[in-house]
Amino acid sequence: MNKATITIAVFIVVIIGGLLIWRSSGLEVFNVSTEAGQETVAESTESVPNTIVSMISEETLAAHNTGSDCWVSYAGSVYDITDWVGKHPGGEDALIRVCGESTAFEEAINGQHGPSRAERLPEVGTFMGTLGIIEGAQS
Ligand code: HEM
Repeated sequence: MNKATITIAVFIVVIIGGLLIWRSSGLEVFNVSTEAGQETVAESTESVPNTIVSMISEETLAAHNTGSDCWVSYAGSVYDITDWVGKHPGGEDALIRVCGESTAFEEAINGQHGPSRAERLPEVGTFMGTLGIIEGAQS
């Protein structure tokens, strides 16, 4: 073996060794972050209301159709805006007409304000769940 061959062999060993060390330390970091992630999941399951999204039927939405009990749906998300109905700068009547509605509420807000105004729903109301048909649900 000449000097050049030995140099190349040492170089290859150093590169492969370096790669192995880097990879195993990378896996350690990954394991640590996985554990941290699991802890986070474990913590968040303790506050169950944050992790479960309710499915709300059209019938349930339609039952909340007054100024003192007002749910509305926009793009499939249902919000309880009861506490805000009386604070709407455009008056409560504009909203009371569309309490309990999905399509009619969307048309009303899009027509009056444009779709971007609906982005304020999480701020002015409480997210209640997702509008959907529950297969086999008994009412
Ligand atoms: C999340 C829902 C809604 C929010 C956050 C909202 C917010 C506002 C705000 C801030 C104003 C004051 C004027 C302005 O800045 O444009 C306003 C006015 C008004 N809103 Fe709404 N609104 C909502 C839904 C609706 C709906 C569904 C209607 C039904 C047609 C409506 C009808 C009106 C009317 C008639 C006015 C007064 C005229 C005008 O300024 O456009 N709003 N609303």
